[in-house]
This record gives sequence, structure tokens and C-alpha cells, in this order.
Amino acid sequence: MSVPPEPGVLEGLDAWRSLPVDQQPSWPDEGHVGRVRDRLATLPPLVFAGEADELKTRMAAAGRGEAFVLQGGDCAEIFAEATADRIRHKVMTILQMAVVLTYGASLPIIKVGRMAGQYAKPRSSDTETRDGVTLPAFRGDIVNGYEFTPADRTPDPDRLLEAYHTSASTLNLIRAFTTGGFASLLRVHEWNRGFMADNPAYSRYEQVAGEIDRAIRFMIACGADFEELRSVDFYASHEGLLLDYERPLTRIDSRTGRAYDCSAHFLWIGDRTRRLDGAHVDFFSRVQNPIGVKLGPNATGDEALALMDRLNPLGEPGRLTFVTRMGAGKVRDTLPALVEKVTADGRPVTWMCDPMHGNGIVSATGYKTRRFVDVVDEVAGFFEVHRALGTVPGGLHIELTGDDVTEVLGGTGEIDDEGLARRYETRVDPRLNHQQSLELAFQVVELLRRA
Ligand code: PEP
Ligand code: CO
Repeated sequence: MSVPPEPGVLEGLDAWRSLPVDQQPSWPDEGHVGRVRDRLATLPPLVFAGEADELKTRMAAAGRGEAFVLQGGDCAEIFAEATADRIRHKVMTILQMAVVLTYGASLPIIKVGRMAGQYAKPRSSDTETRDGVTLPAFRGDIVNGYEFTPADRTPDPDRLLEAYHTSASTLNLIRAFTTGGFASLLRVHEWNRGFMADNPAYSRYEQVAGEIDRAIRFMIACGADFEELRSVDFYASHEGLLLDYERPLTRIDSRTGRAYDCSAHFLWIGDRTRRLDGAHVDFFSRVQNPIGVKLGPNATGDEALALMDRLNPLGEPGRLTFVTRMGAGKVRDTLPALVEKVTADGRPVTWMCDPMHGNGIVSATGYKTRRFVDVVDEVAGFFEVHRALGTVPGGLHIELTGDDVTEVLGGTGEIDDEGLARRYETRVDPRLNHQQSLELAFQVVELLRRA
């Protein structure tokens, strides 16, 4: 028996259409995108509402300091890069970081990929001009192509379907990896294979893996049954930016009659689309998933409270996460007032730190990059502020890849201005490579221990 939608729910899901909506493409053919939306609405959901509820419960635990969220993946996923190897490397990187954090800080780690749907990007300008030629800006593979040609840059609604199918195959592989034995803690050593360069982060990982391995074998010898260690829970997330994608994938949960955005477990609203009178806040106020909002250095305490009123009026634990991305130089000045105001309100939120998006620079050699030291410093500042206020640092949101790219400056691999050219592959923002990601995890262990 399925429960019918609660009264007004279906109408409400389209209320955003009459509100100001930022960062959407201009589709060349409204009829075409309408047909694609209809098609998407008939395709199976990518995640199950019950899984989103389970994540909400866990996000609530993170908000109380009983768990810690690790959310990571590409700035922008690319269809052509949804290959088995790249997906496996990304999942392995997140699992390795999670092992380091769990072991080092004795906390359950909630693993969330910026994966299987992270295809739409907000841009500072609608167009890009090169050598006197102006074309639409690249808005992510779900909208248009990256090549600077009219054919590629013209928004194409069929890309919404490709995004759906690529997300489905990515999620399928993630589910196979994380439940099919690959992610078993009994194989913790193997996740480091292929990453064995001569590097302190790798030797430290080998040491942690060795200790975990010995502990598990000891317990098995004592007769313990480790069936639960064979699989891990891994959730999918992306920025809920493109409403022509999110709306058709929003479904009425047959158990409750309530709406869930079944394109991912966790959706967040970006710093550029969180206006209170806008379409994104309205739309996501009407779905039951756990929701994040990015807060940059210009966010005010009053805005944060108004977002709580809109997105979590009843103060349901785990429903709302604020992902702060202030920049290393500002976090210690701007974060305290925000946290104090929200804490005084009393409704719970989970606080996460995105140490990537406030720390962008352009290298002397012209690359859009970040400094690893700034990333680490913003995380440290985030922990310091929460420690001083007696509030809970609940998680980390990062852009990473499992490959050996050279996009972020520094780390023990000492990538410098010249080194960026070696393997700079990102289409949008620079990502931590595998080694830098592990290094960051070891640094966060120290911070979590002090917290
Ligand atoms: C992002 O997460 O890639 C992004 C665009 O972030 P923000 O909304 O924080 O600018
Ligand atoms: Co980004």
C-alpha cells in the first residue's frame, strides 16, 4: 500500500517556478527541455528515501559530536571521466581518509561522495570571451560541453539524461565497491596499492593499516565475527543547482506521502544560490532529504537564522548542515558571530568546513589553484572557533580526486608554481590529489583529538 502525497505537496514542488532563480542555463528550445523533464520523471529514482532518512539520523549524530562527516569528490564530475578506475580511486581515497580518521580519532566517520550527480556548476559570468569570440560559459557536463566551440557550449537538454545515466552507473559501481567486499576493513592494506610512492603520508597510512590489521586478526583469533566490517555505508551528494534535473527526480515517498529528491542522499545549496526569496531555498524547503547550505564570508547571522526558518523551521536534528567556506584569513574573524547567533537560536545544525572555496588564488604561472597550507589553516581555524565556543565541528567538505594530479600547491610532494603544469586536469576548481588528501586526513586527526 502506498501513502498518497500529503495535500499541497505536489503543487508546492513547482512553486519555485514563479520565484527568482539564479544560475540556470538558457536552453535554446523549451519544448526539448520539457520533453526531457517528462522523461526524467518516469525513470527510477537513484536513491531510496529511506537511505536519505538514515543519513539524516547520522548527520544529526555528527551535529552532536558523536560522528564526523567526510564529504569529498570532484568540483565538477565529467561524463568521460566516469570510468571504473577513476571512480575506484576516488572511493578508495575517501575510504582511506575515513580509516585514518576513524582509527586516529575513534569516531564513526560518515562517508559522503561529491559523486554520482555533481555535474552542474554556478559561474560568475554567463559568457566567456576568448580572442574576441563570446560563447556561453561552461556550466558543467549536465548543461554544455567544455570545448570552446559553439556546438559544445550551446546548452543541450539531452545532457540531463546523460547525467542521470552516468550517475546511475557511477552509483552502481560505488554500491558494488562498498558492499561487495572491496571495502572490507580486512583489505585495508590493499587500498594503498598503486599509491606506494616514497612519501610520509603513505608510510603513515601503511603503519595505521598494519595496526588495524593486527587488531582485527587478533579479534578474529579470539572468535569475533566481523561480518559488519565487510561493507561500508557510502552516500551520494551534489550541489542541488539545476532545478530542471532536481524537480523531475523528486518523488513522493510511498511510505510517508512526503517528497524526497531522489537524485542523491544529500543536496546542498551553493553560496551563490541561497538567496532567501529565491527558487533554490523554496524548492529544497519542500523535500525531506538532509540539506546543506554553503555560507561564505559575506553570510550574516540573520541570514543563517532566516535559512533555518525556511529550511528547518521545526529544528529537526540532521536536517540542516551549514557548510562554512570563509577562507583561511577570515575564518577566525567571521565564523564566531555566525556560530554564536545560530547556537543561541537553539535549533540544531550540523557545522561542516569547506576549506577549498574560500582559498582560491591564481598561480604565478596562471593556474587557478589553492595552497595546501591555506586549506589546512582554514580547517584548523574552524576547529579553533568551535572549540572556543563549545560547539561541535561536525565534518569536512573537500574537493579531491584519487589520481596524481597537480592542481593544489604544496603538501609534502611540494607542488610549486611550475609543478602545476605537470598534470593539471580539472575543468573548474583545483582538487587535492590522493597524497594531499591523505595528508589532510592525518592533520585532521590531530585536530579532532584536541576537540
Ligand atoms: C562548489 O562547491 O563547487 C561551489 C561552487 O561552492 P560554493 O557554493 O561554496 O561557491
Ligand atoms: Co568547486
